[in-house]
Amino acid sequence: MALLLRAATWGLSSGRGYCSRGTQGSLREVFVAALRAVVGPPHVSTSIAVREQHGRDESMHRCQPPDVVVWPQNVDQVSRLTALCYSHGVPIIPFGTGTGLEGGVCAVQGGVCMNLTHMDRITALNLEDFSVVVEPGVTRKALNTHLRDSGLWFPVDPGSDASLCGMAATGASGTNAVRYGTMRDNILNLEVVLPSGQLLHTAGPGRHFRPGFWPSLPALYVLGSRKSAAGYNLTGLFVGSEGTLGLITAATLRLHPVPEATVAATCAFPSVQAAVDSTVHILQAAVPVARIEFLDDVMMDACNRHSQLNCVVAPTLFLEFHGSEQALVEQLQRAEEITQHNGGSHFSWAKEAEERSRLWAARHNAWYAALALRPGCKGYSTDVCVPISRLPEILVQTKEDLKASGLTGAIVGHVGDGNFHCILLVDPEDPEELHRVEAFAQQLGRRALALHGTCTGEHGIGLGKRQLLQEEVGAVGVETMRQLKATLDPRGLMNPGKVL
Ligand SMILES: Cc1cc2nc3c(=O)[nH]c(=O)nc-3n(C[C@H](O)[C@H](O)[C@H](O)COP(=O)(O)OP(=O)(O)OC[C@H]3O[C@@H](n4cnc5c(N)ncnc54)[C@H](O)[C@@H]3O)c2cc1C
Ligand SMILES: *[C@@H]1O[C@H](CO)[C@@H](O)[C@H](O)[C@H]1NC(C)=O
Ligand SMILES: *[C@@H]1O[C@H](CO)[C@@H](O)[C@H](O)[C@H]1NC(C)=O
Repeated sequence: MALLLRAATWGLSSGRGYCSRGTQGSLREVFVAALRAVVGPPHVSTSIAVREQHGRDESMHRCQPPDVVVWPQNVDQVSRLTALCYSHGVPIIPFGTGTGLEGGVCAVQGGVCMNLTHMDRITALNLEDFSVVVEPGVTRKALNTHLRDSGLWFPVDPGSDASLCGMAATGASGTNAVRYGTMRDNILNLEVVLPSGQLLHTAGPGRHFRPGFWPSLPALYVLGSRKSAAGYNLTGLFVGSEGTLGLITAATLRLHPVPEATVAATCAFPSVQAAVDSTVHILQAAVPVARIEFLDDVMMDACNRHSQLNCVVAPTLFLEFHGSEQALVEQLQRAEEITQHNGGSHFSWAKEAEERSRLWAARHNAWYAALALRPGCKGYSTDVCVPISRLPEILVQTKEDLKASGLTGAIVGHVGDGNFHCILLVDPEDPEELHRVEAFAQQLGRRALALHGTCTGEHGIGLGKRQLLQEEVGAVGVETMRQLKATLDPRGLMNPGKVL
């Protein structure tokens, strides 16, 4: 409510100004000059083109651009900028790589957008402890390139080459989560600039403890066994906070040993049910699969065209196995038996690195392959996640609803986690179609909640899922979140209008 009122005052008195008190002109210049004094004149822009570029992500959410964009060069500058904005009552929007799918960087109330890409150091690589510290300008691919000859890698891989701190902010995951966990499981510490400008290390300065290394166990069994009983889990609070509680200026990440051998495989199925049943059976048989991704016939067709693959157009699983040569033979054999038992055919292996990367590049580009189905249209992605036992029914039902709706949509999912996306294509100029797409997404979100799942497995709440969040966590849950937010950000200036 307070936020709504504030938004109203803002809109009435200053339109798009920097200040809600109606002193627009003069304060505006004084304020921008103060920003320049912190970061240096070349690192501040008020040009409309630059602001518009920073006012949107990859989703179809649109609103006004920020009033000004700044490029801090280090954490001290972030801290000073934040304190400055806070004392002037100006909203702050952290900007990573803008690949978000929930409108997280939209400047709902205008304000200062912080493009954090100039802070791009990789420090404190610790090969014995399997940890590394990255600044917000470091992307997942840049980190893995840096690690190339170290024998270690970072497995969390959203389709885009997102910033790792942005991934922490949205609680991202990707195709490897079924074995290596999500961002949540792979963050040991976060350095955060709080709205007050103070610096917080969520696990304490410099700490990066993690469990011992048990190479014979799949990573899954190691997860969660890192020991610390030191009070509330502040790291967990900031993972998935979507820039609404503070700015993440460094993340200590947990690394993993590069597997001795890797094999990928694809397998086509006669029905959605058969593909998803196979997934459930593979997991129940405790095959330590590293990746298991589902693509429906529409998605498979789109990927064939967009990425020049040659797969059968049918419900398909993309799989990958990691381990010793000997373990792989066993895993593959077990998986092939299970898929055959479920009517799977065309089980084909890809052992060469080049072939595997082609397959996973196609999977990572599924979003763009889907967009190419209706050129000129925008994509709207759902992101539900359910307990694995409920996955077959929700997927089969969603596929039927999609057919009945007359909408164009493709289904692709990290089915090993119970998480899938329905990428719906919508003509942004057609409000009626947009309305139907939103209704479809809401209905799917509610179905997931009814099956004890969540409305978002990895993209976050952003602008579009706030109502669903309320239904998901309930009145007391939302009230507790509001109180936490009000404690850390009493003036409601950190990325306003998101999540709550
Ligand atoms: C082709 C494609 C495929 C994708 N596949 C996946 C996928 O498989 N899994 C998945 O999880 N996501 C996926 N995404 C979504 C997106 O990549 C993730 O949400 C990613 O984590 C966003 O990171 P970013 O740096 O681009 O964040 P941005 O889009 O810049 O920001 C996202 C949110 O985080 C906040 N934020 C960013 N940086 C910081 C910071 N340093 N401190 C505080 N807050 C911050 C922003 O304010 C905003 O609210 C995909 C997107 C695309 C376009
Ligand atoms: C953020 O800044 C970097 C470095 O200047 C630039 O390459 C990038 O395009 C900027 N982001 C946007 C959305 O303009
Ligand atoms: C705290 O939360 C982080 C992120 O969710 C997680 O990685 C870590 O294991 C948690 N720590 C404890 C002691 O539970």
